[in-house]
Amino acid sequence: MKFIQADVLKQKPTDESKLGFGKIFTDYMFTMKYKVGQGWYDAQIEPHRPIAFDLATTVFHYAQGIFEGLKAFKNEKGEIRVFRPEENFKRMNRSAVRMCIPEIDEKLVLEGLFELLKIEKDWIPTSPGTALYIRPSIVATNVALGVHAGTEYLFFIILSPVGSYYAHGLAPTRLLVEDFYTRATVGGTGEAKCIANYAVSLRAGEEAAKKGFDQVLWLDANEKKYVEEVGSMNMFFVIDGEVITPMLTGSILPGITRKSCIELLKANGYKVSERKISIDEVIEAQAAGKLDEAFGTGTAAVISPVGMMEYKGRDYVVNNNEMGKITKWLYDTITGIQTGRLADTHNWVVKL
Ligand code: COI
Repeated sequence: MKFIQADVLKQKPTDESKLGFGKIFTDYMFTMKYKVGQGWYDAQIEPHRPIAFDLATTVFHYAQGIFEGLKAFKNEKGEIRVFRPEENFKRMNRSAVRMCIPEIDEKLVLEGLFELLKIEKDWIPTSPGTALYIRPSIVATNVALGVHAGTEYLFFIILSPVGSYYAHGLAPTRLLVEDFYTRATVGGTGEAKCIANYAVSLRAGEEAAKKGFDQVLWLDANEKKYVEEVGSMNMFFVIDGEVITPMLTGSILPGITRKSCIELLKANGYKVSERKISIDEVIEAQAAGKLDEAFGTGTAAVISPVGMMEYKGRDYVVNNNEMGKITKWLYDTITGIQTGRLADTHNWVVKL
């Protein structure tokens, strides 16, 4: 693979407790171009730097873009460990089909990612709760204002050393149940990881933040009745011993951490249901003292306890605003497998 050396390397962060999320980027990125009639070409590793685009570039106008998020870890033995990377590129190709973006060769981009990670290994933080966040993306880059699928694309992978996604770390999150705005509808793009899904979530997110909430909990678009997801996390509730997560209806992102939690819970004898769950069911369980735990799952957010939800002006506290037992077990197990502290019983980790 072609490699273009950077003239100067950046200074690496010295204090891993101050990384935050997605603010610092490494020296190199992986890029690859696409043209109709030619296919994907020019796969290379080159310096991460600003690139100029014409202002009539398709993605700026019609949001024809998709992305992924995954993480690499480094443990005290110096092992580089990537969590379920094949799953991300499989999902990226499903998003690509939905957004009329040409599919990628999953094997080739995995090889590109692994080569990039080997070059950037010194950027992988090692403190507990940190990781190297990997952001693969594809955007339409041809210059045209007609509303058509692009004819040229750029695939890229950029890397960012990160700490916790939430500024408050693992402290329980406060969610506002959104009963006006809609994130996604069945038949829309909710299950694709397309950039526009995140743009449409911003208004509600900003309004919730002004009221002191961390995130919005989305309900289904048609009835505003069933819990969907948080936008940066899939949701789980533990009610009377049953672990429930909203079933994938087409408007919910099929999260890889979500899937990993379901597999871990089932393998350890928990009763797990992927089904529709209404916000009324959650609130009634809370009132009856049966809502044991609520938590979100995601690559960036990992496993995040939910301590409180507001719905129609009323507050509902979950588990005394503390991290529950199952939430803690999942956090410890997933991060243990990711970093190598626990055995990788499901063969999820690729070691470089
Ligand atoms: C992730 O968890 O990787 C996400 O993509 C969610 C968010 C940071 C956009």
